[in-house]
Amino acid sequence: MSFERIRDMIEEGLRDEGYEVTLVPDGESAVAVLRDTPVQVVLTDLMLPSMDGLEVLRRVQTESPETACIVMTGHGTVEQAVLAMKAGAMDFVTKPIQLSTVAVLIKKAMDVQRLRQENLLLKKTVRDKYRFDNLIGTSDAMREVLEFVEKVADSDSTVLIQGESGTGKELLARMLHFNSFRRDRPLVPVNCGAIPENLLESELFGHEKGAFTGAINVRIGRFEMAHGGTLFLDEVGELSPQLQVKLLRVLQERCFERVGGTKTIRTDVRIITATNQDLEQLVDDGKFRKDLFYRLHVIPITMPPLRDRETDIPLLVDHFLTLFNASKGTAIRGTEPAAMDYLLRYGWPGNIRELQNLVERVVILKKSGMITVADLPEKILQSRPVPAAVSDAAFEFTAGGVDLVEAIERYENRLIREALRQANGVTSRAAQLLRLNRTTLVEKLKRKGLDAKQAAS
Ligand SMILES: Nc1ncnc2c1ncn2[C@@H]1O[C@H](COP(=O)(O)OP(=O)(O)OP(=O)(O)O)[C@@H](O)[C@H]1O
Ligand SMILES: [Mg+2]
Repeated sequence: MSFERIRDMIEEGLRDEGYEVTLVPDGESAVAVLRDTPVQVVLTDLMLPSMDGLEVLRRVQTESPETACIVMTGHGTVEQAVLAMKAGAMDFVTKPIQLSTVAVLIKKAMDVQRLRQENLLLKKTVRDKYRFDNLIGTSDAMREVLEFVEKVADSDSTVLIQGESGTGKELLARMLHFNSFRRDRPLVPVNCGAIPENLLESELFGHEKGAFTGAINVRIGRFEMAHGGTLFLDEVGELSPQLQVKLLRVLQERCFERVGGTKTIRTDVRIITATNQDLEQLVDDGKFRKDLFYRLHVIPITMPPLRDRETDIPLLVDHFLTLFNASKGTAIRGTEPAAMDYLLRYGWPGNIRELQNLVERVVILKKSGMITVADLPEKILQSRPVPAAVSDAAFEFTAGGVDLVEAIERYENRLIREALRQANGVTSRAAQLLRLNRTTLVEKLKRKGLDAKQAAS
């Protein structure tokens, strides 16, 4: 069959399958078409009139890297097929050409391409998810951290992240990975505190078949999984003395053996560790190796507790409101100033995670409107906000001075009115806000001649 006949037969067959087909007479024309039309698959002979088929392959890759190439090779010419695959062909088909074979290969090529594109897209979304601006915070404390982190983002050094529970250590570790040159390689987390000591070693380094009872097969450890990428060792302060020695060796020599194995495995991983313990204290107490500490402490970053970054609280509340509104289909619009006052004064022992959980809870229970004081849990209401009126600001006395008793009385009335207003006139709730017994509040109201409902309006 002539070259043209084969071409026409393939064209007809592929059109019948629903593909859009463009026919060109030679390599030059193929490259010209690629320049201004998106093409998913190129099907080419290796023997061509002007440009050689291998050259076409190379040109396709420079002009349009996302295009897949399938080559047609002469019968029994394995070398040609091998050369073509080496030059970047995705597949080959040998003559005489069977239309059905070509159709299958084209479908396969398009599937592979689709997967590749999806994968690229996925990687991009993951990356966007971990851009630095997703670490919310404009407080001085946070800005300092972020500036430092951007400075060291390109470095491949070992990072130690310290900070209280819930301050965002893991989030930061992810940011560091997805902003490093290792971003397209795996980020492998290991929580050293959550895995029993006797299992942790084989979890980290893997084991050979028969290394211990239960080791039925060879197992790859997290170090091997992270090859080329980043290993995130969370709660590193929990490592046993024995594992501290092993980790130290990996850091010094960049190699290790699987449990029960003799073969030395080289590893190329960046190590990021985190702990909410005071690692230096552990060193002083003899619980953590000093030499390991120094190896881990190359770039130390301390995440500030939320109570030291009060100005970030409104931002974080809004951030989580947007997030949870979107994922739960609710419409909480914001936080009333009085409620925000409580959030600002609260100590947040669980830091950002605690705040995130609180916002999630309110969103689920309330669904729409504004967050008010009544939506806040007891422990936050007990955080005793200092009302603005008795702030530390200097008080200016007028010439006549102030009547202390009367001033206190007026101030008391104001607080009671405000509490009743926020409690919608419900005395038990208002009493809670004022940290009084309900009966005490009721008596006070009687003495002052105030009516709960009226005062609330
Ligand atoms: N600056 C921030 N901006 C937005 N979200 C944050 C920020 N910091 C932390 N978070 C969120 O708060 C939660 C807790 O953060 P993370 O798990 O990173 O804390 P952690 O320090 O590792 O806590 P733990 O010590 O308990 O393991 C996560 O859901 C995280 O996404
Ligand atoms: Mg964590």
